[in-house]
Amino acid sequence: MNNLFVVAAALLFSASVCLGQHNGHAAKIPENVEKLLQKHACLACHKADTRVVGPAYLEVAKKKYSKEQILELVYNPKPANWPGYPPMSPMKHVPKEDVLVIAGWINSLAKK
Ligand code: HEC
Repeated sequence: MNNLFVVAAALLFSASVCLGQHNGHAAKIPENVEKLLQKHACLACHKADTRVVGPAYLEVAKKKYSKEQILELVYNPKPANWPGYPPMSPMKHVPKEDVLVIAGWINSLAKK
């Protein structure tokens, strides 16, 4: 019973997300980027266009950071930039090249 409710809620929710989106592409993550996001567990807290624990990457994109600024923020998060969110822990173990690929993709979300 409970499970059914969760499934129904999830379906309703994704349906409304689709309807609310005119280009429909914002949620599509390129395969190479998705692999990195998964490998470094970013997806546990971030989705492309929905708030999870952390802000949606689409919201991050609106801040118009450079890739280097994003790199810096992944290594040294500034929770003050996101009032109402818990602080993200620094993720210095993630290789620079990987963060820069992710950062390039985050920024591409703002141009759509
Ligand atoms: C445990 C949850 C968690 C994980 C894992 C996580 N984040 Fe975050 N992230 C957050 C939260 C919460 C915020 C907002 C508060 C903050 O910036 O401290 C955030 C903020 C950000 C921001 C915005 C920084 C700013 O100041 O505007 C970027 C960019 C970001 N995360 C990228 C990543 C990337 C890339 C990864 C994977 C390497 C990742 N995050 C993994 C929770 C997480």
